[in-house]
Amino acid sequence: MAVYRIIEDGDEVLREKAKEVKAVTPNIIKLLNNMRDTMYANKGVGLAAPQIGVSKRVIVVDVGEGLTELINPRIIEASGQLKDTEGCLSLPDMVGDVIRSAEIRVKGLNRDGAEIEIKAGGYEARAFQHEIDHLEGILFIDKAENIRKVK
Ligand code: NI
Repeated sequence: MAVYRIIEDGDEVLREKAKEVKAVTPNIIKLLNNMRDTMYANKGVGLAAPQIGVSKRVIVVDVGEGLTELINPRIIEASGQLKDTEGCLSLPDMVGDVIRSAEIRVKGLNRDGAEIEIKAGGYEARAFQHEIDHLEGILFIDKAENIRKVK
């Protein structure tokens, strides 16, 4: 179990375009484990590697339906639109309303290096889009309206 400090808004790693993972090495497996532990310890529903200071294209998501780990994730299909409230562990006291695709298909590699495809809707689709945005250096406040403090 390794829980990392979450990098907060203001650190430039959150604004970098994260690098493609070339091979699923033991270090990538360790990264996935650390991201999972850090997400759960902070009661998050998703985490992107830059949020623990690693500028690589790796995300984890669990909106309560089980853990998904994705390396080099990419959205291959998106449809519909939904506006809902979201927050981010890197912006701990803020939420805002963001329009996201309602249904998506995402492809990427799992920890065995196999390509997987996931179909997601609703809040899970939102979480994937939010985490994939992190890999482009995009934070939800860039897209949100009605940004407000929650504390
Ligand atoms: Ni976030």
